[in-house]
Amino acid sequence: MDSFEVIPTGGALGAEVRGLDLREELGGETVRVLRGAFLDHCVLFFRGQEISQEDLVRFTRYFGKPVPHVRPQPDRPIDEIFVISNVTEDGQPIGALGSEEIPFHSDLSYLPEPGTISLLYALEIPERGGETMWANGYASYDALDPGTKARIDGLSAVHRHPIDALNTPEPTMHPVVRTHPETGRKVIYVSPHLTHHIADMEREGGRALLDELIAHATDARFVWKHRWQVGDLLMWDNRCTMHRRTPFDDRQRRFMWRTQVFGAGTR
Ligand code: SIN
Repeated sequence: MDSFEVIPTGGALGAEVRGLDLREELGGETVRVLRGAFLDHCVLFFRGQEISQEDLVRFTRYFGKPVPHVRPQPDRPIDEIFVISNVTEDGQPIGALGSEEIPFHSDLSYLPEPGTISLLYALEIPERGGETMWANGYASYDALDPGTKARIDGLSAVHRHPIDALNTPEPTMHPVVRTHPETGRKVIYVSPHLTHHIADMEREGGRALLDELIAHATDARFVWKHRWQVGDLLMWDNRCTMHRRTPFDDRQRRFMWRTQVFGAGTR
């Protein structure tokens, strides 16, 4: 097995993996340990990587099947790589998501089958801002009082993207409390960015409950923030986390490659 260390952040989730060069193929035992660490920590990051798009797709494959992002992006030499960037060339954005804040969300929850694992590799980062933070959905669920757990058990919520054209014709619903298919643990699965309303509840009561759950699930004790460095590769589990990106000065460049896994398990 390759020699490497998994060092927990000491925060609400996440661990740094030290000692692996992701340009190299990884051995089976290394992948097995990484998969376990990923399920344990929900977010893993690797610093100082100098990888190509092919390396990123190969690494993603250890955890599932990388798929082209659901949003089209022209001129991609490798379909599975999606560019996240505020940079424009000839007046056209070369990537998605600009420089503004992106509120907490789990990726693609506006789809009936949301993305499971996302990976992001930093090639250029701004001097300040553009940090990403993750909230631990297991920890926030576990910390709910029994009365609230009983109140939300069995509820569903409608998820919608703010850009209407990205939504499916039928409303997308997910349980408010989701069970992670691999760990079997329960998670709060609502977000300020993509959860529109709680189904089958009258408007005011539903809104109040959603606000209460979101405030709880994004409380600082459940959140860990990553300050990006060039060469960071970070992967996160959308089945048990949500994430938020802070805004940054649009005159500064932020340029990242992203891959996305749907459906697959890691074990
Ligand atoms: C995202 O919300 O998926 C993007 C995260 C980031 O740009 O840091």
